[in-house]
Amino acid sequence: MCGIVGYLGNKDAYAVLIKGLHRLEYRGYDSAGVAMLSAKGELNVYKSKGKVADLESFARSKDISGTIGIAHTRWATHGEPNEVNAHPHYSPSGNLALIHNGIIENYSVIRAELESRGYEFRSSTDTEVIVYLIEYIMKSNRTDLCTAVQLALRQVVGAYAIAVISRDNPDRIIAARKSSPLVVGIGEDEFFLASDATPIIEYTDKVVYLNDGEIAVISRGEDLKVVNLDNVEITPEIKKLAMNISQLEKGGYPHFMLKEIFEQPRTILNCIRGRINVEGTNVALSGVIDNREKFLNARRIVIVACGTSWHAALIGEHLIEDFCRIPVEVEYASEFRYRNPVIYPDDIVIAISQSGETADTLAAVELAKSEGAFIYGICNAVGSSIPRTTDSGSYIHVGPEIGVASTKAFTGQVTVLSMLALTIAHQRGNISEEKFIQLVRELQAIPDKIKEVLKRSEEVKELSRIFTYAHNFIYLGRGYNYPAALEGALKLKEISYIHAEGYPAAEMKHGPIALIDAEMPVVVIATSDSIYEKTISNIQEIKARQGRVIAIVTEGDKAVRGIADYCIEVPQVAEPFTPIVASIPLQLLAYYIAVNKGRDVDRPRNLAKSVTVE
Ligand code: F6R
Repeated sequence: MCGIVGYLGNKDAYAVLIKGLHRLEYRGYDSAGVAMLSAKGELNVYKSKGKVADLESFARSKDISGTIGIAHTRWATHGEPNEVNAHPHYSPSGNLALIHNGIIENYSVIRAELESRGYEFRSSTDTEVIVYLIEYIMKSNRTDLCTAVQLALRQVVGAYAIAVISRDNPDRIIAARKSSPLVVGIGEDEFFLASDATPIIEYTDKVVYLNDGEIAVISRGEDLKVVNLDNVEITPEIKKLAMNISQLEKGGYPHFMLKEIFEQPRTILNCIRGRINVEGTNVALSGVIDNREKFLNARRIVIVACGTSWHAALIGEHLIEDFCRIPVEVEYASEFRYRNPVIYPDDIVIAISQSGETADTLAAVELAKSEGAFIYGICNAVGSSIPRTTDSGSYIHVGPEIGVASTKAFTGQVTVLSMLALTIAHQRGNISEEKFIQLVRELQAIPDKIKEVLKRSEEVKELSRIFTYAHNFIYLGRGYNYPAALEGALKLKEISYIHAEGYPAAEMKHGPIALIDAEMPVVVIATSDSIYEKTISNIQEIKARQGRVIAIVTEGDKAVRGIADYCIEVPQVAEPFTPIVASIPLQLLAYYIAVNKGRDVDRPRNLAKSVTVE
């Protein structure tokens, strides 16, 4: 979703800004723009519908000089994606330029008020009202830019990360955040600004994550100053980035998604490193151990998440109830936050989010927190909003996920949930020592098992050719693999735009079976588990109606192979961990079908990587 980049220093700002926008492309967007203050004192604003490359073509013959500027990728919310609605927006006098990520909920009230004073707006966006309001305050109250930003933001209701520059002060950027991420990078005599650290990493590893209600005053030749809306100065906490630049490159793969699928043996290893001991006799998630009493006494665990993270949450429900015998409820964060849920102070609320910035999940966390629950975060993006809001948590440590469709983050989330369930069960004595060690060792072996699955990628590629032109798919699974079926269907629809639905296999006969005919591919996860025989019966039901079955089976399987049209084998793993290995061929199938269809795999239409609006 919208991306912000800013630069102030000695370099050519345009080059830094454009490179930064490219780094943020993975977030999803439909227009882009840049504003720079030239040495001649001009404020040059260039905007374009489409990709950053379109913006570059548009700006090619223009004045792109200057060492200070701001840039933006917009994911349309208010007003269609076009040049007028693209950011930066400038003030009526043309003195100020502003970029914004988030949604201003009371923009129509402010707009009407300003219109009644004679202002005429150029765009249909909520953003333009902020820059108009700032200029109006500067003029009517005779204040400087920072004070005007503070006063304007007090009137604004909603979520924002903003950056603003002024023709009257070519050595300053003012930036502010509320419920939308913003990071300031501190280099040698230069500053960077971005929605996340990816545009900053190649210049400096020193960053400050702004907190809600904070304003960064970035000035040439001065230290970074942070103030709040009341102008009280706050000492910024400078953090060191752990990411490196190679993590942001494709490393020889045609797409980030394929690279990220193939990274999974290593990312899962990174996820369990330091948590499972080398002998495979213990697993300890420090976030759980440090809050042992909370977990021992939890009445209930509620997991809130969206999309793929919600699918991981469903697997977490199975794991925790199975191993720990604590009741678990899984909620869409977007529903939870608005449905007046019952939350007890002895509940533990787990928020799962790759980006750590999903607006609905963040709001669900705030709600649960206000009711006194203990909040545990499972996130990937270090320093993002959710881990900074929660009481405790675990990072999944899978590295930056650039492909919009989540792959390695999903398996990382399920791995952390597996370790969490094992740690709690061990602490509570719900599991025998023998069973505990057996499961820990099984989990430790998962990276090698994934390597085995990845060796079959050519097989999946071949299979993808047969189904590229299908119009619909059904995905089925039972028990632990029902959420894996939902995730397989989501992957396919996101990147290939083929309609796909996931169901618990036994639910099919209650409705979806009406869809089955010789045109309908049905992907069934039919690994050798406790309900294998039942799943075979479900496959028989599909075959009796001429459906075409692609089955994910355990190595050496005979029974399903005898009835399914196509089989993809995965190694034998303990039943609770089958969704991790079964998801890999489903990720590959979605990937290859999307490639066959010529889709923009890493940046599918309409999707955003980090969904920072509700
Ligand atoms: C699907 C996908 C989305 C995200 C969802 C939540 O591939 O990536 O469904 O899972 O938007 O995002 P996070 O995990 O960042 O909260």
